[in-house]
Amino acid sequence: MDRYNDLQVFAGNANPALAEKICEYLDIPLGDAYVGRFPDGEIDIKINDDVRGSDVFVIQPTCAPVNENLVELVLMVDTLKRASAERITAVIPYYGYARKDRKDEGRVPISAKLMADLLTTAGAQRILTLDLHATQIQGFFNIPVGHLYAATVFLKHLKSLKLDNLCVVAPDVGSIKLNRRYSRDLKGDLAIVDKRRITPQSAEVVNIIGNVTGKNVVIVDDMISTGGSITEAAKAVKSRGAKDVYLCATHAVLCGGAVEKLNTTDVQRIIVTDTIPLGEKQVKNLDVLTIAPLLGEAIRRIHRSESVSYLFE
Ligand code: R5P
Repeated sequence: MDRYNDLQVFAGNANPALAEKICEYLDIPLGDAYVGRFPDGEIDIKINDDVRGSDVFVIQPTCAPVNENLVELVLMVDTLKRASAERITAVIPYYGYARKDRKDEGRVPISAKLMADLLTTAGAQRILTLDLHATQIQGFFNIPVGHLYAATVFLKHLKSLKLDNLCVVAPDVGSIKLNRRYSRDLKGDLAIVDKRRITPQSAEVVNIIGNVTGKNVVIVDDMISTGGSITEAAKAVKSRGAKDVYLCATHAVLCGGAVEKLNTTDVQRIIVTDTIPLGEKQVKNLDVLTIAPLLGEAIRRIHRSESVSYLFE
């Protein structure tokens, strides 16, 4: 059944520009909602459009300020539930708190699981997200999770650069599978960085498995947080004789000294998506690719009860 007339999209304050682009793709106006603050800083919400019986999507990456954006999201979902929306999908282009996905030492939370519980308790009936830090986070939910990959967007861009003599370099063992896909599609070699994390803020490269000498190198990661992992990987391949280095990361978290690290590392281009707004951050040699059409198409298909699986590829 086509319920397209009932589709409504709302957004909190995390990334309104992305929400506008998604609505442009869908050719519908962004829903009218007030998401402000009470004088004491508590979040004040009013959905101004009638949503009774509608299929509603709320666009809100839980990027910094992560706690503000998260609470805005769950309160918006709660508001829509109490306003009798028929189905509520939380569209979370960047899923914060994802890195704490297991209890790897005593007396620590599994934050990614708690986020799932909060969203479900608030009333989310479906999740749509992109390049989760760990794909098994999907299993933390007992509601459907659409998990998209930005790879199609990056690969199209990388192919347009017509790089020859290419080596795709996984910046750590956790990203081998992702980087293998890029090396296959770009018809390049694959190498792996043996990275050791010293603290949450710093990582060191111990070794590079594979040959990067004289090659154009593409390094792909899910996120650039403090920038340590990807810039250390870039320096390591350069010191082993790589030609030009291209960095790709879906989520430009860019906290700590990331901007300075990126601006002082010898790379040709840094390619990210617009899951997280850059704000005032000035990064040299940066290309920002939009994932709005990918998310927009997934929303359209979910709404029409059509398959979205080909978008997962
Ligand atoms: C690691 O497991 C992740 O995929 C990223 O490499 C990491 O979170 C990036 O963090 P940072 O930029 O702080 O090194």
